[in-house]
Amino acid sequence: MTNKRILLGVTGSIAAYKAAELASALTQAGARVDVVMTAEAQRFVGPLTFAALTHRAVVTDLWAEEQPERPTHIELADAADLVLVAPATAHLLAQAALGLAPDALTAILLATPAPVAMAPAMNGKMWLHPATQANAATLRSRGVELWGPEEGLLACGYEGIGRMLAVPDLLKRIKGFFNQP
Ligand SMILES: Cc1cc2nc3c(=O)[nH]c(=O)nc-3n(C[C@H](O)[C@H](O)[C@H](O)COP(=O)(O)O)c2cc1C
Repeated sequence: MTNKRILLGVTGSIAAYKAAELASALTQAGARVDVVMTAEAQRFVGPLTFAALTHRAVVTDLWAEEQPERPTHIELADAADLVLVAPATAHLLAQAALGLAPDALTAILLATPAPVAMAPAMNGKMWLHPATQANAATLRSRGVELWGPEEGLLACGYEGIGRMLAVPDLLKRIKGFFNQP
């Protein structure tokens, strides 16, 4: 995955810690990983973790602009070969389906010409709620790939569908996307 630019969006799910392992594995595989975190994601994992693992600055604030004439979120949106949101909350799916852009990650999702994949992670009832299912269908109809969720024991204590795909499975999908073994 040398020199592939992967924009990794991280949202406010308990599964955010798995995104750190994913960012590390992608970086070790040679990818340039730009991490963009929502405010809620930062309640679960600190940006410093991702910065240390990827050796790159982490975007946490749409408004922290050093060059307003060339906004960071537009640069990152343009530079990405793949935008992957992992984990993707129900809230993120809803915002993306509606085209809302209140923060850096959602603005990038609107601005990027790159293919977009999302790995949903949430409580099973949240995933199966008609609103979430409708949002997922809307996103799929626009070409967004939804990777997972899968069945299993959820962090909320329930067994069911909603668990984010395991990191090795996400890596396989990403390599498949780039046609790599
Ligand atoms: C302990 C805890 C765990 C949560 N886990 C999830 C989750 O796995 N999936 C989800 O959709 N929301 C989860 N939430 C709710 C989201 O954090 C909340 O909807 C938030 O607004 C999402 O913001 P974001 O999508 O901008 O990151 C969790 C909340 C808490 C307090």
